[in-house]
Amino acid sequence: MKPLEYCNGVLKLIDQTLLPGEQKIVELKSYAKVADAIKDMIVRGAPAIGVTAAYGVAIASKAINTDSKDEFFTDLVKVCDIIKSTRPTAVNLFWAVDRVYNKAVSNRDKSIEEIKNLIEEEAHLMEKEDIESNRSIGRFGNELIKENWTILTHCNAGALATCDYGTALGVIRAAHESGKNIRVFADETRPYLQGSRLTAWELMQDNIPVTLICDNMAGHFMKEGLIDCVIVGADRIALNGDTANKIGTYSVAVLAKENNIPFYVAAPTTTIDFSIETGKQIPIEERSPDEITHIKGVRIAPEGVNVKNPAFDVTPNKYISAIITDKGIIYPPYNENIEKYK
Ligand code: MRU
Repeated sequence: MKPLEYCNGVLKLIDQTLLPGEQKIVELKSYAKVADAIKDMIVRGAPAIGVTAAYGVAIASKAINTDSKDEFFTDLVKVCDIIKSTRPTAVNLFWAVDRVYNKAVSNRDKSIEEIKNLIEEEAHLMEKEDIESNRSIGRFGNELIKENWTILTHCNAGALATCDYGTALGVIRAAHESGKNIRVFADETRPYLQGSRLTAWELMQDNIPVTLICDNMAGHFMKEGLIDCVIVGADRIALNGDTANKIGTYSVAVLAKENNIPFYVAAPTTTIDFSIETGKQIPIEERSPDEITHIKGVRIAPEGVNVKNPAFDVTPNKYISAIITDKGIIYPPYNENIEKYK
């Protein structure tokens, strides 16, 4: 299942706001539309946002109509800044835009046409690398999963959140594909319902047994002994291992520790922000109150009520048993071990 596909200046996305009810593909031909698609969560999930952004820069570069290299680069910087302003938390967005931009800068001596093609090629390469990286996360993570385990996950860190296969769901897929009899409990993930709308749907497509629960049921099932481990994705990991992920992840991590259940983060090394020491430096996106006061356009809270809607929280490193990456499994002490993966 590929949430994005690029060909000849057109980026096709599965509109994730409509799943699972409707499977619609949107076709984007301008960088402004790509930026809107990221902001409006037509595409979401850290790695998918990153690669989408890279294609956005490729589309933008093709539309810059000038013979002046100075003008080309001035316009390119503007576009990169606009795309970077769409969502603040997932570091993959910034990493991806910087990577294609730096590709252009390091080839400044080439013709504008050649530079445009190099940006496009780099975006393609990033898509390919993301899929390989998820397969690798799956292989490493599978070593931690035992026969007959039930795995709890939060949000959607699946194929839909990446270029294919997924990170947390990549580990689950790898365990399932290797013949292990595993089951998944999926938190519904209020308010945006990535768990019920996307994770449950995605796993059912692959015939991986999944049980949907409300977020506030996770502790109950842990205490009942029904959960063997938790695996979640990540939007940004600090050098000390503190991890930003979908709002509610922190609560799940605390509950896991209380119940002696291993709590794993699965993420590519591109999600590590080597420039920040701790999770305190991670910007947390605040989204529209409507996501909480309304469901599918229907008001479910009193008019005028005060609302807070942070889209992510930070799980302190002490709750994380290990971080499963494409380059291997990182164990505590994260302060010492994460740096080695730079
Ligand atoms: O707001 P979203 O849906 O973009 O948030 C997604 C998550 O928090 C995922 O867990 C994370 O990006 C990892 S995706 C492999």
